[in-house]
Amino acid sequence: MKHFLIVLLLFTVVYGTEFEPYGEKLFKEHCMTCHQLETTELTDNSILKAPPLDILVHQIKYYYRDEEKFVEYLSDFLRQPSEDKSICIPCVRRWGLMPSQQLSDEEIQAIGKWMFNAYR
Ligand code: HEC
Repeated sequence: MKHFLIVLLLFTVVYGTEFEPYGEKLFKEHCMTCHQLETTELTDNSILKAPPLDILVHQIKYYYRDEEKFVEYLSDFLRQPSEDKSICIPCVRRWGLMPSQQLSDEEIQAIGKWMFNAYR
C-alpha cells in the first residue's frame, strides 16, 4: 500500500509538471512567433507583434460565448482572415490582417478548445 501511494505521488508530480495539452503545444509551435500568451502591467504594448492571447480570448468570447461557436469562428478566421470576420478591427488597423494559417481541422480544433478553456 505504501509503495502504491509513493508511485501514485510520483506519477502525479511527473504528470502534473510534464503534461501539456496538445492545443497548447500547437499554439506554442505555430502562433507564438507573433502572439505572446499573457499581458502584465510590465508589458510594453508598443513592441507587440500581435494581440496577446489572454486579451484575444476575452475579446472573442464577447462575441462567441460557447465553445462550439468559438472554435467555429477560429477555424474560419485562421483559414481565411478577413476584416468582415474580425473581432478586433483596431488590431487589423494596427498590424494589418494576420496571415492565414495552414493547419489541419484537427489541429485547429485542439488549439481552439485549449484557448477557450485556458483563458477567460
Ligand atoms: C505572423 C504573425 C502571426 C502568426 C504566426 C499568428 N498570428 Fe494571429 N494575429 C496576428 C496579427 C498581426 C493579428 C492582428 C490582426 C488581425 O486581427 O488580423 C492577429 C490576430 C489574431 C486573432 C484575432 C483575429 C480577428 O481579428 O478576429 C486570432 C484569433 C489569432 N490571431 C489567432 C492566431 C492563432 C491561433 C495562431 C496560430 C495558429 C496565430 N494567430 C498565428 C499575427 C499572427
